[in-house]
Amino acid sequence: MKVGILGSGDVGQALGRGFAARGHEVMIGSRNPKGEGLAKWLRAVKGKATTGSFEEAAKHGEVVVLATRGAAVEEVLKGVGHARFDGKVVIDVTNPLADDPNLVPFVGMTDSLGERIQRALPRARVVKAFNTVPNTQMVDPKFSGGTPDLMICGNDAAAKKAVAGIVKEFGWPGALDLGGIEGARWLEASVSLWVLVGMHIGRWDHAFKVVHG
Ligand SMILES: NC(=O)c1ccc[n+]([C@@H]2O[C@H](COP(=O)([O-])OP(=O)(O)OC[C@H]3O[C@@H](n4cnc5c(N)ncnc54)[C@H](OP(=O)(O)O)[C@@H]3O)[C@@H](O)[C@H]2O)c1
Repeated sequence: MKVGILGSGDVGQALGRGFAARGHEVMIGSRNPKGEGLAKWLRAVKGKATTGSFEEAAKHGEVVVLATRGAAVEEVLKGVGHARFDGKVVIDVTNPLADDPNLVPFVGMTDSLGERIQRALPRARVVKAFNTVPNTQMVDPKFSGGTPDLMICGNDAAAKKAVAGIVKEFGWPGALDLGGIEGARWLEASVSLWVLVGMHIGRWDHAFKVVHG
């Protein structure tokens, strides 16, 4: 599979490593594709990987991962051109974290960045996934209490099935499908709780698990 990743931060690099190591052809898109950070990543990555502009990465991917800073993602999509995403599975990992010490998401409770992205890309098949877990656990997750299913949501059943396949390929037991893209309101809001929990347990490799009787 050809995968385009928009964003070269910790998330883009971690998912890029995961896809490449599993035989997929990865291109990471960045404002600075020839910079030292990505050159180092390219030297270390196992498998087929390249870097390019955001536009080149979006064009390359049959599946496109959005891994830019939340506040920048809509501008990045506009720069690429919305039609470039038509028909593609778009995995949205972004979170609308404001530069706010209280970590209040900048979108509010009646909308979400996931929904804004789906509205901006009406013919893309957006699936919110991986945004609730730290980049260090996205691929080959290891949790002392057992690995949970990864929470995802989106409007397109076939796209969610494809993403659930990727989730399993990355070592998760499966995906917990939380319905339409409006579920992104709560997947995104949970990140503020995730940070609060991290501050109180003093570590950043945790995730939420649904348990029931
Ligand atoms: N870090 C985590 O563990 C984690 C976990 C779950 C979800 N997330 C979410 O995943 C996304 C990526 O997180 P991250 O930690 O990898 O990195 P980040 O620091 O949030 O974002 C890095 C990426 O955003 C791009 N970017 C930043 N400002 C930009 C601007 N003004 N215009 C265009 N592009 C811009 C950068 O592009 P260049 O490549 O051009 O520098 C870089 O690739 C975020 O939305 C974050 O909330 C993060």
